[in-house]
Amino acid sequence: MPVRHFLTLQDLTPAELHQILGRAAELKAEHRRRHYPSRFPNHVLGMIFEKSSTRTRISFEAGMAQMGGHAMFLAPKDTQLGRGEPIEDSARVLSSMVDIIMIRTFGHDRVERFAAFSSVPVINALTDDFHPCQLLADIQTYIEHRGSIAGKVVTWIGDGNNMCQTYIQAARQFDFELRIACPEGFEPREDLVQANRSRVSILRDPREAARDAHLIATDVWASMGHENEILERRRAFRGYQINRELLSVAASDALYMHCLPAHREEEITADLMEDSASVIWDEAENRLHSQKALIEFLLNARD
Ligand code: CP
Ligand code: NVA
Repeated sequence: MPVRHFLTLQDLTPAELHQILGRAAELKAEHRRRHYPSRFPNHVLGMIFEKSSTRTRISFEAGMAQMGGHAMFLAPKDTQLGRGEPIEDSARVLSSMVDIIMIRTFGHDRVERFAAFSSVPVINALTDDFHPCQLLADIQTYIEHRGSIAGKVVTWIGDGNNMCQTYIQAARQFDFELRIACPEGFEPREDLVQANRSRVSILRDPREAARDAHLIATDVWASMGHENEILERRRAFRGYQINRELLSVAASDALYMHCLPAHREEEITADLMEDSASVIWDEAENRLHSQKALIEFLLNARD
């Protein structure tokens, strides 16, 4: 069987995604009991980070240790990748020595090129276009608190960025309606919207998009790589904020999420970040459990 990768949510079937999320819930229960069976002794995860990270690095590294394996952090400045060694050559060499690899980088084509030359599973840990690992955690969190997300209304507030585009793919894989509220000029990729037209709509008014929503999600106004546009973006995104007023038009049991890191009083208010009913911290923690389930799935699929 060819090696399975996880470059986007579309690489797994809806049934496989649900299987992983079910397993993630079991692994979370094990974590609560501090019960860590050594499932993958001597297995090594290679972690290539061409962008910064807190949650992704910690969750992958801790997760691998908890399963009896090891994780290796590889920064471009310390490897030949950073000095221009072709990504295809790096993929062949690294995959001959480790069991599974995750990459956080800029262009999505870089993970695709890496995966094409890798003999072991490759996980997309964020590209300019997609962040599928975060969506595993987001959906796990929704299910944990509210049950199935199928048929629900999800509202995206803000930039049509990598997170928004992954929500578009999630709408298809997990069968929900997605309303995107973004300013003109900051829409997600047109091909993704068109391919999912029956489930996805783009609106300009955040209140209209949030009406009766079951989940409202947002992200920073300037993603990694766009930091120098922050002044222009602050103007463009004014009003595209999750706050109590916006929540008041959503369903009475609506959840709100943020993948973090957050900018308080920009895309989300400080009081909602600090609200004891917020599930944002569960969402962050669930990165650990859902990615352990993902690693287990990909390694078992290989054997
Ligand atoms: N949400 C997320 O991916 O966080 P990090 O950038 O800290 O990894
Ligand atoms: N859209 C953000 C997500 C960070 C986890 C970024 O790409 O910087």
